[in-house]
Amino acid sequence: MGSSMATGNRLKPRAPFTRALFLTVFCLVLFIYTLRPSSIERPAQVQPQRNPMLNGSHVHMSDCTINKSQLEDLQDRYELGDEIEFARRYVRFHRQDIDRKPMTKIDMDLFPRGFDEIDIRNPPRRTTCLKPLEVPVPRSRTPNTVDASDLLFGISTTYSRLTDEEISPIKEWAHWLTDGNGKSNGAGLVLRLIDATVEELEETQAKMTDMGIDVKVYPTDSSIEMAKRYLSLLPALYNDTSRESRKFLVMCDDDTFYPSMHNLLDRLSQYDYRTDLYIGTLSEDVNNIQRHGSQAFGGAGVFFSIPLAEKVADKFDQCSTAEKIEEANTGWGPQGDILLRKCIHEHTETTLTLLRELHQLDIQGDPAGFYEGGLSPLSLHHFKGGMWHKARPYEGAQVIHACGEDCFLQRFQTADDFIISNGFSIAYYPKGIDFNIHQIEKTFTAAPDDYGWNLDFMLGPQRKNLLWTGRKVAWELMEAQVQKDGSVKQTYIRKTDDYRWTYGEGGNRMFEKDGVLELVWISS
Ligand SMILES: *[C@@H]1O[C@H](CO)[C@@H](O)[C@H](O)[C@H]1NC(C)=O
Ligand SMILES: *[C@@H]1O[C@H](CO)[C@@H](O)[C@H](O)[C@H]1NC(C)=O
Ligand SMILES: *[C@@H]1O[C@H](CO)[C@@H](O)[C@H](O)[C@H]1NC(C)=O
Repeated sequence: MGSSMATGNRLKPRAPFTRALFLTVFCLVLFIYTLRPSSIERPAQVQPQRNPMLNGSHVHMSDCTINKSQLEDLQDRYELGDEIEFARRYVRFHRQDIDRKPMTKIDMDLFPRGFDEIDIRNPPRRTTCLKPLEVPVPRSRTPNTVDASDLLFGISTTYSRLTDEEISPIKEWAHWLTDGNGKSNGAGLVLRLIDATVEELEETQAKMTDMGIDVKVYPTDSSIEMAKRYLSLLPALYNDTSRESRKFLVMCDDDTFYPSMHNLLDRLSQYDYRTDLYIGTLSEDVNNIQRHGSQAFGGAGVFFSIPLAEKVADKFDQCSTAEKIEEANTGWGPQGDILLRKCIHEHTETTLTLLRELHQLDIQGDPAGFYEGGLSPLSLHHFKGGMWHKARPYEGAQVIHACGEDCFLQRFQTADDFIISNGFSIAYYPKGIDFNIHQIEKTFTAAPDDYGWNLDFMLGPQRKNLLWTGRKVAWELMEAQVQKDGSVKQTYIRKTDDYRWTYGEGGNRMFEKDGVLELVWISS
């Protein structure tokens, strides 16, 4: 039944306490613990749990078995040590007529029995078996009911990026272009592949069509100046035969991700698509706005109404002369976003309509503060590492297939000082949650110059980060699977050598072993 508290591993980071103090606290905790109503399943009840609300097809089992080969696979993928700390918790969500709160407090412990100490070479057959954690969630919709036929997207990229195992965006595109079951959600995609061969175009077309993506793949030519190529995508979208049935033409980067299409469409429906509209967002970094101008930063997604797209298409030649391209160079090479803004400003009365839930994410370093901020982003960008940050929003967003769009990045605070940022992390605060949860933790930096306040206008002033303080440790989501019964299993991992979880910068590690936490989201 896993390790009990007697092994002293109950959520205990290695702290420089004296043994006496430790024992006193330990005995106190043990005493209080015996008085609490237990959320632990008695061994006799370690059986499939039947929820009377469910009919036969949706019975969820609390599976407390440990599968050695699955642990070995995780060990391989994430270079885990042989001895790990492990815990699994089922989370039963209850859809209610409530708003999505910045923080949902749950009056239960997340891991009342701490973690099991497991040797992957010889694991126990079962893990500590707990009753599901019960959490309320708003009634939000799932991808299988999206009708996005109002939208036609345009992206330029290269065949080599599409086929790169590390950064290929195709499965992410399928998230926002299909119903999650291999069928188009109605949205179209015009994909331009730079310098691709006929075979590459055909292969891409076939592969993406197979995945249910309504795509038209075209070649484009690297000899055309990049900024001009970018601008020419809008007339190409405007020219598409499906235009008549669209309301918005959307340009974005190959690393733009739209987690929640219902929410995106709801927001867009607040605007009158028959008027001239240029909708997008600024960079979070005022430094970039000063450098490049007040315009839509394309990685967050830029939405054009058809009437405005028509005007840009008409003026394409005038807007893309050598002189205009030179004017779009702010010292970082000619920028497509600038060429587009100038074309709109110089030929129409339209300026940017700011949709702040879109995110360019010009941030570097540890992005946790953003993803743990309780936000409900309509787009995400720059999350593939390299010079920007690294995150896994595709894996994170899988949970919406079970509990609806609002669940992604929704926060739950449990009685034992954990905060689940659903689909990003499970963070534990050993000294309590004594900070302003409404502010974003400044774990990241602006680039290339961080004045300390560049990001404040868009993200709000951020609170001081808790790195190297011993006050925070987080397991981050690495994978997630929608399972046959409709539940979603998430795997969160904390490595012992993570540079962030130490006492003092470069100081002693808070934990001696790697940690794996699993959450399984089941419906009520
Ligand atoms: C069982 O539940 C599923 C999903 O809620 C529903 O589609 C199905 O009709 C239900 N079957 C019965 C027998 O109630
Ligand atoms: C354990 O997991 C593997 C996949 O890693 C799977 O093939 C196997 O069926 C699982 N075994 C049991 C008993 O569930
Ligand atoms: C759009 O169609 C017009 C008319 O058929 C054509 O002249 C123009 O080159 C096309 N533009 C693009 C970018 O495909």
